[in-house]
Amino acid sequence: DDGADLVVVANRLPVDMTVESDGTRTFTRSPGGLVTALAPLMRKEDGAWVGWVGTPDVELEPFEEDSIDIVPVTLSADEVELYYEGFANGTLWPLLHDAVVDPEFHRTWWNAYVAVNRRFARRAAEVAAPGATVWVQDYQLLLVPNLLRALRPDLRIGFFLHIPFPPVEIFAQLPWRKQVLEGLLGADLIGTQRASDAGNVLRAIRRLTDVTTRGQVVTVGSRWTRPERHVRVAAFPISIDTAAIAELAATPEIEQRARQIRHDLGDPDVMLLGVDRLDYTKGIRHRLKAFGELLADGKVAAPDVTLVQVASPSREAVERYKVLRDEVEVTVGRINGDHGALGRAAIHYLHHSYPLEEMVAMYRAADVMLVTALRDGMNLVAKEYVAARVDLDGVLVLSEFAGAADELTQAVIVNPHDIDGMKSAILEAIGMNPRERRRRMRALRRKVVDSDVQHWASSFLGTLQAMPRRDTHV
Ligand code: G6P
Repeated sequence: DDGADLVVVANRLPVDMTVESDGTRTFTRSPGGLVTALAPLMRKEDGAWVGWVGTPDVELEPFEEDSIDIVPVTLSADEVELYYEGFANGTLWPLLHDAVVDPEFHRTWWNAYVAVNRRFARRAAEVAAPGATVWVQDYQLLLVPNLLRALRPDLRIGFFLHIPFPPVEIFAQLPWRKQVLEGLLGADLIGTQRASDAGNVLRAIRRLTDVTTRGQVVTVGSRWTRPERHVRVAAFPISIDTAAIAELAATPEIEQRARQIRHDLGDPDVMLLGVDRLDYTKGIRHRLKAFGELLADGKVAAPDVTLVQVASPSREAVERYKVLRDEVEVTVGRINGDHGALGRAAIHYLHHSYPLEEMVAMYRAADVMLVTALRDGMNLVAKEYVAARVDLDGVLVLSEFAGAADELTQAVIVNPHDIDGMKSAILEAIGMNPRERRRRMRALRRKVVDSDVQHWASSFLGTLQAMPRRDTHV
């Protein structure tokens, strides 16, 4: 065994660890779309996945799960605080989402980020076969491509950014902007969600580094690598496992569960649904404000119109997320206090995460899906909702600031900052006639059927593997 031919490097491993009462650890495959898309390729290509198990101070030997080599990277409690909660989620996450909340810049966070990125790069260098393809994922690991190239110049290195990249005027705030871009430029191919993100990456490279760019191609000279090397920056919009969701959505069990959900809600005329990680980028407060005003204006009445808001717990140690949770919960409480009745809430707020089956049943139950992100790389909830509507019913209200808006143009598109506009859009969605709903959903479904996550993975890897090898320059 001379190593893996395909190595994925991501902050999180594709398995969830649970610790039993007797201390034994068990692992189950986590349900993410990325794993689903890559698992068949990984099995075929002798794949390895380098990542963190999600709990501090856990030291694990590599193991095999579902024919994929799982290669755990250990993070100390300090590193979780400084690298994960700090630089990744207190600096980069808000900065790259157009600074919708203030990013914090701390040198201690940056130092931990560099140290952890080095560890991921070293681990990837150890497990990759000669000439292997390594695919680095997301903003937690922006420095890995160049660190890895220094260790293993024989590799093909791809990088995919799952979140947006802001205009250079915003990105330029980052004290370590040049190091971050140079880190990224270790890749042969840099993928983004939207064409506008790719444009922003290219402009930042042009303005903040010394390399030359031409169209989508960056030429990296002998500053960091010996021979001249080309880096491509292009959009590869991610998607979902459309067929699997559609198949699940069509089962009698899910249909039955969808009916039960509506029944449990008191069979409202209209069920509105929001499904998000509890994150300030998702526009949950704006959505609640619009719904609250519609109730207060008497344009809709509870419980005839009921909103179900699933807000799955996320990054709860990060201060900004605690603040958001308080704001959302105060708002929900206020709206329910003003507009609910005994046994009938206006908003059913659920601070839980659910298995995919339950989510798909909720999608099938909901008349209107509200995706009102202030900024979002793609937003897979929007695509999942569409995939689940095998009955060709349901209306998607979608923020223009979510990457999905580039493809899902038949949705009711909104600017979430425009509360009046959002109120009209919600009313339009509620009042839309069945023929129009069907027409739009049919068009939306075509998009997610044509480009699913398998298509995404193979087009990224296909592009990467078709690029000329660096060795040919020598
Ligand atoms: C976003 C990011 C992912 C991240 C996920 C969950 O989708 O792009 O990289 O894994 O959120 O966040 P968490 O911090 O729990 O990994």
